[in-house]
Amino acid sequence: MASKILIIGACGQIGSELTFALRNIYGSENVIASDISYGNLDIVNSGIFEIVDAVNYASLKTCIEKFNIDTVYLMAALLSAKGEKFPMRAWDLNMTSLFNVLNLARDKFIKKVFWPSSIAVFGPTTPVDYTPQYTIMEPSTVYGITKQVGERWCEYYNNKYGVDVRSLRYPGIISWKTMPGGGTTDYAVEIYHKAITNGHYECFLKEDTELPMMYMDDAVKATVDIMQVKPEDVKIRSSYNLAAISFAPKEIAKSIKKHIPEFEISYKPDYRQEIASSWPKNINDSYARQDWKWKHAFSLEDITDEMLFQLRKKFAGVLNKSN
Ligand code: SER
Repeated sequence: MASKILIIGACGQIGSELTFALRNIYGSENVIASDISYGNLDIVNSGIFEIVDAVNYASLKTCIEKFNIDTVYLMAALLSAKGEKFPMRAWDLNMTSLFNVLNLARDKFIKKVFWPSSIAVFGPTTPVDYTPQYTIMEPSTVYGITKQVGERWCEYYNNKYGVDVRSLRYPGIISWKTMPGGGTTDYAVEIYHKAITNGHYECFLKEDTELPMMYMDDAVKATVDIMQVKPEDVKIRSSYNLAAISFAPKEIAKSIKKHIPEFEISYKPDYRQEIASSWPKNINDSYARQDWKWKHAFSLEDITDEMLFQLRKKFAGVLNKSN
């Protein structure tokens, strides 16, 4: 029998693209998308879609039994910037959803779990350059705390109960299909939108704030890859460091200017600066490269080419009408 997959948070930035990718690989009938609302009509109308609240164990279990799910991708989360505004909501959503999924795996309702962690597990005391897999981790955001604690629980459930849970510490993810929401790295998506729609972007981080980043296609590939390798090749059961490129706002602005010379950026750092300043500049992901042969494909220039091309197409109708 084919494996049946449930994606929780399928309307979100990563969840939506992961849904399309997994449907291509495993067949639409085997990939069930779910979210708490009909937030992304492309996803809702493109295959099986269920309303599931991952914080509600009964709602989740009902869906898992209804479709005979054996693999869950838990992509729902409240991210770093929003988490600082709603600390208890972030804690509740991020932790309760994880426990619900881990407990369903422990109790053998499902066999395999993917749960994303983040560079936010690191904090101001972590070495910022080529941050190693094993290092000081004292996250200073609520989001980072949930990811750090979540990693410990993933490893614990693997050790104690044999749960096959796999995880990646995603950097900032850049994509054009679905907007990110509530993150600190979101500027690197917004900037392309503003470059196309009004030629100017006011950045909420300082010009030299370097952060680890990755194109969506690479993030999806890493996720699919780690879920496909043999269990014995997944040697780290907390979460793998995962890296592609690193840049600061002034560098992404420069790469956009090569295509749109009149593009302008200004800087007005807000509370998100402190979050960004607490994270690594770049990441050493040698374990992922060794254990399951991870390799990224997209450079900053590739990403800029692709983002501007896709967004111009997407906004073509709208921009022409307003001109
Ligand atoms: N992109 C996330 C954020 O900015 C980090 O994992 O919150």
